[in-house]
Order: sequence, then C-alpha cells, then structure tokens
Amino acid sequence: MKGIVLAGGAGTRLYPLTLVASKQLQPVYDKPMIYYPLATLMLAGIREILLISTPEDTPRFEQLLGDGSQWGLRLSYAVQARPEGIAQAFLVGESFIDGARVALILGDNILYGRMGLDRIVADFERSQGAVIFGYPVQDPERYGIVEFGPEGEVLSLEEKPEKPRTNLAVPGIYLYDEEVVARTHALEPSDRGELEITDLNLSYLRDGKLRAHRLGRGIAWLDTGTQESLLEAANFIATVEHRQGLKISCLEEIALRLGYLDLDQLAQTLREMPASPYRNYVEQVLAEGS
Ligand code: DAU
Repeated sequence: MKGIVLAGGAGTRLYPLTLVASKQLQPVYDKPMIYYPLATLMLAGIREILLISTPEDTPRFEQLLGDGSQWGLRLSYAVQARPEGIAQAFLVGESFIDGARVALILGDNILYGRMGLDRIVADFERSQGAVIFGYPVQDPERYGIVEFGPEGEVLSLEEKPEKPRTNLAVPGIYLYDEEVVARTHALEPSDRGELEITDLNLSYLRDGKLRAHRLGRGIAWLDTGTQESLLEAANFIATVEHRQGLKISCLEEIALRLGYLDLDQLAQTLREMPASPYRNYVEQVLAEGS
C-alpha cells in the first residue's frame, strides 16, 4: 500500500502566518505539522509516500523532508497547480499510484492514540472498496459527516451539512483500492469547483463498497484550522510530551521501533542533525536501542 500526504491549499485562514510558508510547515510545538501525518502513515506500515503541495511550497517540503531515506522511507513530490479539491490528489498522483492501493492523509490532520491503523490497513489489503473513519466532534457542520447503521455499516455521508444527522466527523485519512483513480476521473467538480473527497466516498458507498471505522474517544484528532486550535494542538502535544518524557511523532524513533532503520542507519541520520533538544532526544532513543 502506498501513501499520499496532501499538503496544499490556500491556508488563508491563518494569514499572515501562511504568507511565506504553508500551514503544514507551521510548528505544532516542537516539530513541523507535516511530521504528524507522516508519522501516522509510517505507523500504518506505509513507506512509499507522495507529498503533494502548491507550486511555491513543494520545494520547501522537499528541503525539509528530502527523499525520506533518513527515516527508511521513499518520499517523492508532486505539484497541485491549483487547489481544485482533495480528490484531485489521485489525478496529480496517478503515475505514483500506478494501479496500487493508496492511503490518503491530509497534511493538517493530527491523530494521536491507538487507532490500530496497521491492523486496519492489513485487513483492508484482503478486501475491496474504501475505508473512512468517524470521530465525535462538537461542531459537525464543519466536516464531512458519516451516519452508521446498527451493524456498523455506512448509512449516509454528507459534506458540511447544515443540519448534521450525527456528530461523527470524517477525519482526513482514507484508504482506497485500485479503483480510486478511475472513480476520481468520473467525478464532476462541485458547485465550489472542487473534486470533493466526499463525492469520491459516495461513489464507493453507492456500490456498497464503503466501510467506516468509528474512532473511540481515547483517540485525539486535533484541529489545526484556526490560530486557537493550532495553539491548543501545540499545548496538547507539549503536555503529553512533558508528562511522559517521550516525543509524539518523532520520525526517527518510529523508524527505529518499526525496523525501517537499524541502529547504524539511525546513527547516520543523527550525525546530520544539528545540536538541539530534538537531537538529544534521538540520541537517547539510539542509546536505548543499543
Ligand atoms: O479535516 C477533515 C475534513 O477535511 C473532512 O471532514 C471533510 O470531509 C473534507 O472535505 C475536508 O474538509 P476541509 O474543510 O478541512 O477541507 P479544506 O478545503 O480545508 O482542505 C483540507 C486540507 O487539504 C487543507 O489543509 C488544504 C488541503 N487541500 C485542500 C484542497 C481543497 C489541498 O491541498 N488541495 C486542495 O485542492
């Protein structure tokens, strides 16, 4: 299974923060926002990843993340010329996908906690269709909203409904089978001129091929859409990290623990890092690993 991180968009709500660096390059406490969705894909067992962003920001992501080998990943990059919808990621990424299955994560979605995504991905490899998630929020009109039936099946799916049927928002992480590119080609742009991810999911739903997992309240899906929520997300990460003395979404640590890097390779990654509290932490991870 391959992965795509979609990290474009106008980011105007965070102006002037986003004048010279996109939202997904902003710090969330001690690391750039993009580290968190990358960590989510890594924890799902996905190592071949395409990052899609704007013409201006793609080179900045490339500068930050390189080819991914420092984390045992294969990272590549593609440009979305204009923000014409989340589902457009599958058209921009068509040659990268190359007939494979793909997980899409939005570059501003921070998920923390035991989602069991590695198991969900492994199960998904043995079935057809698409997988989305549902997560309780108190402002459902801001999101895609899913309604579950008694057997856990998807009854309905709506994008930012005025009168939401449930409080279960669809987070920006999705799993798709080999049909995703063909289904995206068949989509029409919405009234706002975008290829909507919800329309893609509805196409799977109409064919009885959409499954949804309900994420429990023990999972944190953090919002990063406003100055306030960005600060709250940073405070959440800082609080957990200070309490535990462990970092959330430290890509070097995840790479070592999942065997994407061995100790020698991690030592090599470490040598490239400037003196910093982050480096000290990775040094500690390496020492414990040895
Ligand atoms: O965060 C989850 C929500 O994401 C879902 O519940 C909704 O169903 C889904 O439509 C989406 O809603 P948003 O209102 O958050 O979408 P937004 O247009 O803000 O885009 C989400 C991220 O994707 C944002 O960081 C920018 C990026 N993006 C968006 C579009 C439309 C792109 O990179 N390219 C695009 O063309």
